[in-house]
Amino acid sequence: MELKIKTNDNFSRVSESYLFSEIAKRVKARAESDPSAKIIRLGIGDVTLPLAPAVTEAMEKAVREMGKKETFRGYAPEYGYDFLREAISGHYGRFGIDVPAAEIYASDGAKCDCGNIVDIFGDNGILIPDPVYPVYLDSNLMAGRRTTLLPTSEETGFLPTPDGLTGEGYIVYLCSPGNPTGAAFTRDGLKSWVDFAARTGSLIIYDSAYEAFVTEDVPRSVYEIEGARECAVEICSLSKSAGFTGTRCGWCVIPHSIKAGGVPLYKLWERRQATKFNGIPYVVQRGAEAALLPEGRRQSMENVAYYRKNAALIAGALRRRGVFFTGAVNSPYVWMKCPHGLTSWEFFDLLLDRAAVVGTPGAGFGKCGEGYFRLTAFGSAEATEEAVGRLEKLL
Ligand code: MLT
Repeated sequence: MELKIKTNDNFSRVSESYLFSEIAKRVKARAESDPSAKIIRLGIGDVTLPLAPAVTEAMEKAVREMGKKETFRGYAPEYGYDFLREAISGHYGRFGIDVPAAEIYASDGAKCDCGNIVDIFGDNGILIPDPVYPVYLDSNLMAGRRTTLLPTSEETGFLPTPDGLTGEGYIVYLCSPGNPTGAAFTRDGLKSWVDFAARTGSLIIYDSAYEAFVTEDVPRSVYEIEGARECAVEICSLSKSAGFTGTRCGWCVIPHSIKAGGVPLYKLWERRQATKFNGIPYVVQRGAEAALLPEGRRQSMENVAYYRKNAALIAGALRRRGVFFTGAVNSPYVWMKCPHGLTSWEFFDLLLDRAAVVGTPGAGFGKCGEGYFRLTAFGSAEATEEAVGRLEKLL
């Protein structure tokens, strides 16, 4: 039956399927055509190691509490239990960054926050680096917003700069260490964006989901930069740092000093979340708290170290073959140039057909990603080693 309702026309502005859904479709077809192929998946950045023991112990205890009348809990507070907000604040504190618990809003992950935050803004110019995690662009296109892409390239190390931008009142999405390129801003590089935001009355939405992978002297949080508390919101997640891709917990920091048109931004976010979000499960929040306390973080960082070794293995092969890449050092992602002048989907198909290895075509992250390809370090060490061997033969 044909309904007489109108649907959101803005959906015609985004590609028909989400990048990782398209990849999953092609991988399924390959697996069906050759069931004996040992496909190695280094496409979507999904973790493979289990949650840390401190996390599962905390969750088990929380489950038992939920099973007793005296300790059972119903709806969780929309912004997170105080114990979790305090644990997140303490986590920042251990890096010398002061983020009060009241400015932290826990959620079911960075992806949701990156998309949902669009609700609290009006019609602004939105600046989005290219290539980029598709959620920033697609969420703004679906909401009918005016988006401008900031091209990046090999020459700029795939890091956007505010050079040459005119105008004011922008919303700028930045991710560092970045997805998909793994490139990380230096302090000066990030400071140039904070200065730009301060000068033009713009807001930075800073995605720090990969902070745990930082090894060099680069910022883990935008709040390491002076002035950021006046113009930056930070979104972070436990997905990659503590293996929460399936468990779901992230947060958004909105400093209470940030205002637009006399209205504090956090008030709008509180109103939005109170209306459309009912909080994350108590059991998950106890697990998240444990992941952020020193012992849980230490255990989770052992997993991060394991993934880092995988990244180094991939990077080593590319170095040996003289292939350009970014990432791997401060990131679980390795962003490589496609060999033999192939487009990124051509290389995707070649790698899948000839080596049964799945990566992510750079073009799926934006026009400037064409000719590049992303591999993740989140596989097992054995699978990564096997994939690297197969990859090297094709380079
Ligand atoms: C990715 O592969 O880019 C990430 O896993 C996506 C995400 O974190 O949502």
